[in-house]
Amino acid sequence: MTGIGGARSNSAVSGSSERPALIALTGVGKTFDVGDGTAPALLPSSLSIADGEFIVFLGPSGCGKSTLLRMISGLLEPSVGAIDIAGSPLWFRGRCRADLRSRLGLVFQDASLFPWLTVEENVRLPLDLRGRMPRGGRLSSARAMLAQVGAADIGTRMPHEISGGMRQRVAIARALSYDPDVLLMDEPFAALDAISRESLNLELQTLWLTTGKTIVLVTHSMAEAVFLADRIVLFSPGPGRIDSVIEVGFPRPRTLDLTYSPEFQGMVRDLHERLAGLMGQS
Ligand SMILES: Nc1ncnc2c1ncn2[C@@H]1O[C@H](COP(=O)(O)OP(=O)(O)O)[C@@H](O)[C@H]1O
Ligand SMILES: [Mg+2]
Repeated sequence: MTGIGGARSNSAVSGSSERPALIALTGVGKTFDVGDGTAPALLPSSLSIADGEFIVFLGPSGCGKSTLLRMISGLLEPSVGAIDIAGSPLWFRGRCRADLRSRLGLVFQDASLFPWLTVEENVRLPLDLRGRMPRGGRLSSARAMLAQVGAADIGTRMPHEISGGMRQRVAIARALSYDPDVLLMDEPFAALDAISRESLNLELQTLWLTTGKTIVLVTHSMAEAVFLADRIVLFSPGPGRIDSVIEVGFPRPRTLDLTYSPEFQGMVRDLHERLAGLMGQS
């Protein structure tokens, strides 16, 4: 690869050596019980993610990306290994620590908004459920989050009245409502048309640059990975595991013009070849 990217294999916990880990995964793996046997979904994998990094999980379907993201989010307990958030174990005696979980916000491919609530009520819901903030504060916080994702004027609409792109913006606003340090996003733009996806990629970059959040985003789009990531974590299939970590050195903010450059296209091609190679091996 040229000076823009470089790959490291997963022989050890790999991460940005200069910065302390916000998320440390040590030999994290998952095996599901299926029928009268078990099936590995993710072989033990290690990774260190620094505060403020933009990490992209890339790999073919079924290689364990969502499983790993759900384990990091506290929704699914690892079968083996340890997940530490800011130096403390996320799981303790089979339970996820609620204080650490509240530092993590989740966004799925399907925005999963409640259809009977307005946009604003959906965004406010996590704050309402916690009940720690007075009503006025919850309302202004929800409005501020909607403004941050470019959806300021749709607060009173119902989810079915807005576009798919807007629904994803609302899902991001909801995830941000309780001010988590980390946004975990599972193929958030996969169901959108190409133009909406481009806009949301640009907006997500702006959000990340302005808020300093740590983002872990799952995709199987190589161009999306190169456009957004500081580092791309490549998964290999059959059964899945982290194969390697690739640094993306393009300066920020990245523009759509970059995507037409030979350097960008070369990196996408390189990823394509790597993935094809990994799939051929499985
Ligand atoms: N709840 C589950 N029970 C059994 N197998 C599962 C479960 N969730 C995921 N798997 C399996 O684990 C593997 C990895 O799945 P997943 O993490 O969803 O992959 P990806 O997100 O990379 O497409 C797949 O073979 C999938 O069928
Ligand atoms: Mg998935």
